[in-house]
Amino acid sequence: MSILQIPTAKAFQPLLEPNRYRCAHGGRGSGKSHFFAGLMVEELLRNPKKRFVCVREIQKSLKESAYRLIADKIAAYDLAKYFRILNDRIETSNGGLISFIGMQDHTSESIKSLEGYSAWVEEAQTMTSKSLEMLRPTIRADGSEIWFSWNPRLASDPVDKFLRSANVPPNTAIVEANYCDNPWFPKELEAERKFDKQHRPDRYGHVWGGEYEPQAVGAIWTMRDINEGRVQERPNDLKRIVIGVDPAISSKEDADEHGIIACGVSEAGHGYVLEDASTRGTPEKWGRRAIALYDYYSANCIVIEKNQGGEMCKHVIDSIRPGIPVVLVHASRGKHVRAEPVSALYALGRIHHVKDSPQLEAQMCQVTAQGYEGSGSPDRVDALVWAMTELFPDIKGKQSIVNRPTVAEMDYEVSGYESNLYRGRQSVAIGE
Ligand SMILES: Nc1ncnc2c1ncn2[C@@H]1O[C@H](COP(=O)(O)OP(=O)(O)OP(=O)(O)O)[C@@H](O)[C@H]1O
Ligand SMILES: [Mg+2]
Repeated sequence: MSILQIPTAKAFQPLLEPNRYRCAHGGRGSGKSHFFAGLMVEELLRNPKKRFVCVREIQKSLKESAYRLIADKIAAYDLAKYFRILNDRIETSNGGLISFIGMQDHTSESIKSLEGYSAWVEEAQTMTSKSLEMLRPTIRADGSEIWFSWNPRLASDPVDKFLRSANVPPNTAIVEANYCDNPWFPKELEAERKFDKQHRPDRYGHVWGGEYEPQAVGAIWTMRDINEGRVQERPNDLKRIVIGVDPAISSKEDADEHGIIACGVSEAGHGYVLEDASTRGTPEKWGRRAIALYDYYSANCIVIEKNQGGEMCKHVIDSIRPGIPVVLVHASRGKHVRAEPVSALYALGRIHHVKDSPQLEAQMCQVTAQGYEGSGSPDRVDALVWAMTELFPDIKGKQSIVNRPTVAEMDYEVSGYESNLYRGRQSVAIGE
């Protein structure tokens, strides 16, 4: 008889014993996925009739699952004769099985077919409380287990509330693992890590140290609001789409970014963040990007904050392609005054991010009523706020009724887009 030896990082040792919940959380590249993939292969060797399901919240294709990783482990341990790697699942020669599902494709009825399985939830930070509630009682066979691996986002995420709050369920083994615990940490990731340490210090602890998302105390947006509204597809009934641009003064490599965000509003009055295309570079570069987005989304106009460059901003677009409707806006009030009505829409559940825009979202969670607590300038947030303010003219209308700003205080100036005049001019909005 030959003995299979699976080299295992010390950090995962507490997870080698059977337990109802075996859990590993931590930063990028800590070896979590490799550990559980190896563990599953080992369990199937010990008990070849066992059935496992690899679960993700969303799984559009097998490519997004751990299928490849597990198949590679089987090959690396030279165990091909004990397994059959099929198109959509992996079987053992004795009736054991590994299947792969996305929770979003299941209902509480359809999930019942998984009774009798053990489960490994990958990227568990994205799991909704509904999915967690559905999965736990489903995995009910004698001795069945649920494994979780995840990169924590927020203490309020369902998996963190379930496994890392004061009341940890019985029979839970949980470890934290980070890159420094991974003896096989690849040099490519090491280069990425060093770059982030130097250039993205505000993100470093979260991405590589497994810490929760940095969130400024008193932030006017929370990841929770953003996550709750998140959708995977943009609706096809968007009645208006605009591209918000907040150009930076300088085009040097280390200058602030040009914030460029595409947003839309649906017939039902819900706002969508379609894409964050922010960039550094010359004015021509942001101009071309904004126009590319304008074309791609068949947008109605490009909204540009003109504080940094005045009328030149319109010229940037005109010189690339004349005739595109451009709304020039001028920031005369503080950032948070402009941002708060937009954040209120998030709190009402009316704004949805299509997929994710991690850098925009990180900036959003650093904006407080006292100012921006991140490093540099929140250009992506500014572009978002201009775009949403353009799409939700009521934000300005209501504010102006309260504040009665004089013409001189108005934020908007309209150029080249006649139909926008009524939206833009606050004095008109008051009379509406
Ligand atoms: N047991 C192992 N054997 C060989 N290589 C490994 C092993 N564990 C980790 N690695 C190497 O370390 C890298 C990171 O591991 P892994 O993908 O498992 O980390 P992770 O914690 O799941 O990361 P992420 O948070 O990015 O999903 C792998 O791409 C692989 O190169
Ligand atoms: Mg992983």
